[in-house]
Amino acid sequence: MSNPYAPIPMRVEKSVTETEDGSIRTISLSFPDGTAPFGFVPGQFAELSILGVGEAPFGIASSPMSSDMLDFTIARVGTVTTELHFLEPGESVGLRGPLGNGYPVEELSGRDLLVIGGGFGFSTLRAFTNYALHPGNRGNFGGITVVYGARNPGLLLYRDDLCDWASRDDMNLVVTVDRADEEWTGMTGTVPAAVEKVKGVKSVLGGRAALVCGPPAMIRYTLPVLADLGLAPADVFLSLEMKMKCGIGKCGRCGIGGSYVCTDGPVYSLERLRGLPGEFR
Ligand SMILES: Cc1cc2nc3c(=O)[nH]c(=O)nc-3n(C[C@H](O)[C@H](O)[C@H](O)COP(=O)(O)OP(=O)(O)OC[C@H]3O[C@@H](n4cnc5c(N)ncnc54)[C@H](O)[C@@H]3O)c2cc1C
Ligand code: FES
Repeated sequence: MSNPYAPIPMRVEKSVTETEDGSIRTISLSFPDGTAPFGFVPGQFAELSILGVGEAPFGIASSPMSSDMLDFTIARVGTVTTELHFLEPGESVGLRGPLGNGYPVEELSGRDLLVIGGGFGFSTLRAFTNYALHPGNRGNFGGITVVYGARNPGLLLYRDDLCDWASRDDMNLVVTVDRADEEWTGMTGTVPAAVEKVKGVKSVLGGRAALVCGPPAMIRYTLPVLADLGLAPADVFLSLEMKMKCGIGKCGRCGIGGSYVCTDGPVYSLERLRGLPGEFR
């Protein structure tokens, strides 16, 4: 039996600064020669490690349909994330994964989708959106509306994806910033306020399921808007970010009620979360 704590030595292929302030980077990792890339579901995460420094969990930011490389978008907040920011192409990083459950793609099939994200929490929603837009999958879903927000234009991630999505006629993209600068011509306001505005677009938003990931305040104020839109708690899926250690249901660090976020989550329906302790009851 393979050791679940043994990381795969991945190779850094690319490291790109996403935000103007340099606080968020996306690294692209390739599997070592002779190791087949693993399959995964958008929304799953992996533990990334640097020898002698430590290990931390990160959502997989690339679509399983895109390439053999895995993207991770990393906000620099402490020890491990700082070291990950310094990695150069050709260097090695350990990976354990895929971990957790991901978005319920089968259950979402055939529904209109409202994808709502903010901050680096948007990373797995980027993975999901690119998965859903893939020609092999697009027919499985109804209307797709993505509402994405950042505090200011300099903090917007994935500019190439945003340009691509904005040019498509098979989805609706709404990008908003809390505070505009002189060059910003798009929407200004919070994510919940943007969802409030787009909810009038009934033809696109037949909206029978919503996927939400972002800062807790964004989620807290978005949930009543979704309820207003007629979405039942069973149709709203949230991705949680608890502090974790093992990532495989052994250490108990990520427990909420009787559930371990690393194995039962990180994606939960709001209905399920309402049965657990925590802020989304
Ligand atoms: C399932 C999951 C997916 C995640 N996906 C991403 C992602 O895609 N991109 C990303 O940048 N981060 C993500 N995170 C958060 C990331 O794991 C933490 O930022 C990271 O562990 C910090 O490690 P560090 O050693 O740099 O910070 P530390 O030196 O350990 O801590 C620095 C600061 O960050 C706080 N912190 C540490 N871990 C967390 C956490 N899990 N949640 C909130 N605050 C924390 C600490 O309390 C401290 O204030 C995810 C977390 C989980 C559980
Ligand atoms: S992180 Fe160890 S049980 Fe979840």
